[in-house]
Amino acid sequence: MPLDSYLDNKNMIMTTNKLLNKNVLITAGPTQEAIDPVRFISNHSSGKMGYAIADAFLKRGANVILVSGPVAITLQHENLELVKVKTADEMYMACCRYFADADVIVFAAAVADYRPAKVALQKIKKQEEEFTIKMVKNIDIAFELGKVKTDHQITVGFALETNDEVSNAIGKLVKKNFDMVVLNSMNDAQATFGHDTNKITILKRDLVQKEFTLKKKSEVANDIVNEVFSMLIAREAFSADWNLN
Ligand code: CTP
Repeated sequence: MPLDSYLDNKNMIMTTNKLLNKNVLITAGPTQEAIDPVRFISNHSSGKMGYAIADAFLKRGANVILVSGPVAITLQHENLELVKVKTADEMYMACCRYFADADVIVFAAAVADYRPAKVALQKIKKQEEEFTIKMVKNIDIAFELGKVKTDHQITVGFALETNDEVSNAIGKLVKKNFDMVVLNSMNDAQATFGHDTNKITILKRDLVQKEFTLKKKSEVANDIVNEVFSMLIAREAFSADWNLN
């Protein structure tokens, strides 16, 4: 990028604190994996955190593609494209469509790790005392996209843990090639599914840890956007330095 347009761009971003022209892809909510036409396997994710992050990016001027599992929340904005999905496979396919054009990708969805090996075409009738469903592993969306991520993209993952929180989160950071992991501990009573509050620790690749206090999810979303913002600024300044030398 030429020096003057780099400086214009950087000054504009820094002075307005905006993320204009940045494309952000966000996954949110749970996925639902069908057992038969009337039943599915899912989890307690409300989607509140992912939607709050989408809202925070939109307020900063970014274009947002929100790939969402089934949730009871609505969000409208002229720069928002909402892609509704149900299964992990559908979520993966939607992400693949938008990934290459995304500057920032936030994996906030609680993707079901397994799905029933077979979906019954008819409602399964009650018979024996015990009933076993064979499950097969779902695709790991963040892991697959982490393999094709470019140096220009910033990826943010979540880690919801009940034990060995920090080491598990670092494991996910490395395995899924994230630039940043947002760690939620299930040990914080007000910071789990369905609550309007959350308490996070942010871990980055330099292994710097930043702990935040219990806050409203909208404030947590702002903290996450601020971290992404400073990473974008640092990265753009770094690549401009290289281009100038
Ligand atoms: N993730 C994903 N696709 C999956 C599973 C997870 O994209 N099939 C993403 C989540 O959105 C999150 C991160 O990977 O950003 C970590 O998810 P988590 O469920 O905590 O980790 P898992 O890899 O599923 O590991 P485990 O459930 O064993 O802790």
